[in-house]
Amino acid sequence: MPTGITDTMPHWDELWVNAHLATLTVAAEPYGAILDGALATTGDRITWVGRRADLPGPPEQLARRVTSLDSAWITPGLIDCHTHLVFGGHRAAEFQRRLQGESYEAIARKGGGILSTVEATRAATEDQLTAAATSRLAALHTEGITTVEIKSGYGLDLETELKILRAARRVADAFPGTVRTTFLGAHAVPRDYAGRADAYVDLICHQMLPRIVEAGLADAVDAFCERIAFTPQQTVRVFEAARTAGLPVKLHADQLSDSDGAALAARFSALSADHLEHTNAAGIEAMAKAGTIAVLLPGAWYFTHATVVPPVDQCRASGVPMALATDCNPGSSPATSLLLMLNLACTLFRLTPEEALSGITRHAARALGFGDRGTLAVGQRADLAFWAISEPADLSYWMGANPCIGVVCGGRSALTRRPATLGGSGRARQ
Ligand code: NIG
Ligand code: FE
Repeated sequence: MPTGITDTMPHWDELWVNAHLATLTVAAEPYGAILDGALATTGDRITWVGRRADLPGPPEQLARRVTSLDSAWITPGLIDCHTHLVFGGHRAAEFQRRLQGESYEAIARKGGGILSTVEATRAATEDQLTAAATSRLAALHTEGITTVEIKSGYGLDLETELKILRAARRVADAFPGTVRTTFLGAHAVPRDYAGRADAYVDLICHQMLPRIVEAGLADAVDAFCERIAFTPQQTVRVFEAARTAGLPVKLHADQLSDSDGAALAARFSALSADHLEHTNAAGIEAMAKAGTIAVLLPGAWYFTHATVVPPVDQCRASGVPMALATDCNPGSSPATSLLLMLNLACTLFRLTPEEALSGITRHAARALGFGDRGTLAVGQRADLAFWAISEPADLSYWMGANPCIGVVCGGRSALTRRPATLGGSGRARQ
């Protein structure tokens, strides 16, 4: 035993010092910040968080490995809680049509939109889908993402929905972080069911969902409740089938019109209701009572030229936590940067930088049903991101920069990279 170590001293695997911590725990300091902090991990858990001055001994005697972070900031690993990462093709031509004035909804009504991606996804092989989604996830990962949700929903038949979910699981196998999969069979009414949406909902409830559950391919169920997709009544049927199958639900709610989607999601104790641009006051109140998280998707808002801002003030007043996500998909948000979403949420929806960072950490964790991540606290999963920034607001302030210098997933170092030069000191404030 090296000199100075006693039996009562902790023996951590890793200890990071000379770092500032944005713990995102509810504390007196903004961001739950601890300046000149230290953080230790053992196995896949965080085992110590605090001020370096309060460490119970000299760092080199407390852990197998001690790393100085040169005044970088540590945040929880970031969480992208709403993506459609697995899809075939792209929709650049629709982007150009929208630039000429056609709306997202009008294109969908003419048979484009989601249905055109369904065609491309049905035509793609599982290997092709896996490879494309893997590179999208790699882009997210370099920005400090350690947990991601992936929805199906571009198959709309059993075979292709299974193919998408299998691809998502394969992406997960090659990813050092965590992937959650969500079955979104109720994303659009497929062409062969045009005018027969109820019959398609029967297929979802009686054939697709049971098979997907049997194959263990989904962690949750989602639906698109909207005038171009499914009615509230049809959404209720999907949610009842999910409840029977024992899966939690989420909802694309009130994106283009007020369908009372938020209240419906709350009625089923949904993990989250997402988009929410047109949600009414009663819907937000119902979400507050049910503990349903609001997931705001500023990338989709920006990219589709939306004009109605989601009810941020009311979420604040009612105590509904607001998460943020990329919504990465080929139609409404072809985005693989969660950091950019921070900036968009601040500029477009007037979130504070602290609310924005909470939205991709602690609140995003809850939107996926996780209680073991999203903050830096003892006992939490050791998912960490390291940043060459002066203060946490830099993550919202810069547009298109990536100051992430390292990622740890479950206690294992998963990525180390050189930061972009941000100007200023480029160093954390002492
Ligand atoms: O979250 N709103 C529905 N689903 C996606 C868009 C999907 C698409 O256009 O391909 C969304 O915005
Ligand atoms: Fe979406």
